[in-house]
Amino acid sequence: METKFWKVDKSVDKKEGYPQIMQPADLLMNDEVVAFPTETVYGLGANAKSSTAVKKIYEAKGRPSDNPLIVHIASKQQLEEFTESIPQAAARLMAEFWPGPLTVILKEKAGVLSELVTVGLGSVGVRMPNHPVASALIQASGLPIAAPSANTSGKPSPTLAAHVKDDLDGRIAGIVDGGPTGVGVESTVVDCTGEIPVILRPGGITKEQIQEVIGKVIEDAALKNPAEAPKAPGMKYTHYAPKAPLTLVEGSQGFFQRVIDAERAEGKKVGVLAAEENKERYEADSILSPGSLADLSTVAAGLYETLRKFDQEGVNVIYSEVFPTDGIGAAIMNRLTKAAGQKIMTEKIQG
Ligand code: TXA
Ligand code: MG
Repeated sequence: METKFWKVDKSVDKKEGYPQIMQPADLLMNDEVVAFPTETVYGLGANAKSSTAVKKIYEAKGRPSDNPLIVHIASKQQLEEFTESIPQAAARLMAEFWPGPLTVILKEKAGVLSELVTVGLGSVGVRMPNHPVASALIQASGLPIAAPSANTSGKPSPTLAAHVKDDLDGRIAGIVDGGPTGVGVESTVVDCTGEIPVILRPGGITKEQIQEVIGKVIEDAALKNPAEAPKAPGMKYTHYAPKAPLTLVEGSQGFFQRVIDAERAEGKKVGVLAAEENKERYEADSILSPGSLADLSTVAAGLYETLRKFDQEGVNVIYSEVFPTDGIGAAIMNRLTKAAGQKIMTEKIQG
């Protein structure tokens, strides 16, 4: 299939932009899949009410069929169509963080959405993206739009239209290019179907921000202990991974350099992922930095692009620094740990 491209800038919400968005919106209305920018990562959208359309998402990504999709909306009125009554905590979170990088899991109104979206869970994840191009596209289609990240399953999520093209060109009907995304890691997923809300996936809205609004929030046990089965089906898969194996390194600069040197002694080309402040510390074949420790949101914004760049550099192995886990750092370390398949080398301090 030939993949169509449109460049749509952020002024799309003004009237002139609409003609550009009508073509991709038409494709969505005709059960095709179209990639579009959000403030987190690019999404791969399809009509959430049509199994014909949603099936194409799973096929294009090679996504396991037991992994439910997030439904994207442009206005709260759309919620009534496919969710049951909204619990108070969910309502407060939506009031505070929508539009924005927060996905709320609610009880599903049966019989509206494609079963491929909810995979029989009886619940549905909903999000209102804070991106003018996403809002315009959803509004123009008049549909709830199911959308996972627009990458091949297992690869780092796309933060540029070029990343989507690298993964899915020829496999989807179209790509709307709205420039770089922004937050850089996916939305925070909060399950609001039980008594106390549970964070299933850390993301663009931090636990601290959520606590300020609703007080008590629990973190899914699987986020701390990889042996636990996660409640968000998607969290059990290896994810976000570049081609070369990635390992996290925790310890002194000397320890890190010895790890690098041992690999280079075997003739391997070594990539290092380090904070901007620390780049000069290491000697390796390719040292890339997603952003600065002084502002962790820059690390989040650059993380996936950096992981993809290592693929282009053709390194054989990648070692990464660890980052603080407060605020957006929780999402950064969650993604890095998954990209590393939980592999972490920790320096043993003699004493
Ligand atoms: O920022 C984002 O959330 C991006 C953009 C495109 O909006 N989307 C995204 O979708 O990250 P995806 O499919 O890559 O991740 C969705 C996550 C998965 O871990 C999935 O298992 C979980 O949300 N999820 C979706 N619906 C769920 C439900 N009803 N119950 C539990 N987990 C759910
Ligand atoms: Mg994803």
